[in-house]
Amino acid sequence: MNAVEVKHLYFKYENEWVLEDINFTLKDKEFMTIIGPNGGGKTTLLRILLGFLKPTKGEVKIYDKSPKENRTLIGYVPQHTNFSLDIPITVFDIVLQGRLQKGKFFYSKKDKEKAIKILKELKIEKFKDRKIKDLSGGQRQKVLIARALVSEPKIVMMDEPTSAIDPKGQKEILDLIENLDITRIVVSHDIKILLRKVDKIAYIHKKAVIHEGPKLNIPKDKHFCEVELIDFLKEDECGI
Ligand SMILES: Nc1ncnc2c1ncn2[C@@H]1O[C@H](COP(=O)(O)OP(=O)(O)O)[C@@H](O)[C@H]1O
Ligand SMILES: [Mg+2]
Repeated sequence: MNAVEVKHLYFKYENEWVLEDINFTLKDKEFMTIIGPNGGGKTTLLRILLGFLKPTKGEVKIYDKSPKENRTLIGYVPQHTNFSLDIPITVFDIVLQGRLQKGKFFYSKKDKEKAIKILKELKIEKFKDRKIKDLSGGQRQKVLIARALVSEPKIVMMDEPTSAIDPKGQKEILDLIENLDITRIVVSHDIKILLRKVDKIAYIHKKAVIHEGPKLNIPKDKHFCEVELIDFLKEDECGI
C-alpha cells in the first residue's frame, strides 16, 4: 500500500486552474519535498492532501483512503501560525492540542505522557512551562512540529517549516525532519532542502515535475551554495 497516491489531480478555486494533472505516489516512510515559485500551488496541493480542499477532478488517497477518512493519520504543521503571541499559552499546552480529537474535551494522563515524550525527543523539554511568546522562531517551530507529532501520525505534512528562521535553527529543523521515521511531505521555499536525503521532489508550478531524489545525484561530500544548486537544477530542466 502506498502512503500517498495522486492521480490526474486538477484543482481550481474559481475559474483558473491552480493545479493541472498532478500525478505521483509516495511509499511509507518516504520523504518528499514540494518546491516551486510563489503562487505555484504548493500550499493548495498540501491542503488537498490534508483533506481541507476537495480535488476539482482526479483522485487523492492517503493510505488507501480519502484524506478526510484518514485525517487522524496525518500530522500537520501549517505555513502561517495563527496563534496570537499575546495569549499566555505555554509550550506544554500547545503540544497537548495535538492530542485533541473530535468529541474529546479533556486530556488524559496518557496524553500528558505523550506530550512529555515528544518534548524530550525534540530536546525542547526545558521550555515546557515557557510562554510561546518567549521563544525564538526556531524553538517555536519545533513546538509546532511537536504538536504535529504528538498524536503519533503515520505521515506528517509541513508547509515551509524553515521560513523566517536563522540558519542554525533551519539546520536543526531539517535534521529533525530528515531523521523522522515516518512519511514526510515538506513544502519548502528554500531549495537547500534538496541537499537532504529526500526520496522524491515535486516541483510545482501549476503542473508538476516529479524527480526521484537520487536522480539529482548531488555529491554528498561536495559543498553547494544556493547559486550552484540553482545551476545544477537547471541541468535537470527543473525550470527554477
Ligand atoms: N482561497 C483562495 N481563493 C482563490 N485563489 C487562491 C486561494 N488560495 C490561493 N489562491 C491562488 O492559487 C494559486 C496558488 O496558491 P498557493 O497554493 O498558495 O501557492 P504557493 O503555496 O505555491 O505559494 C495562487 O495564484 C493564489 O493566488
Ligand atoms: Mg504556500
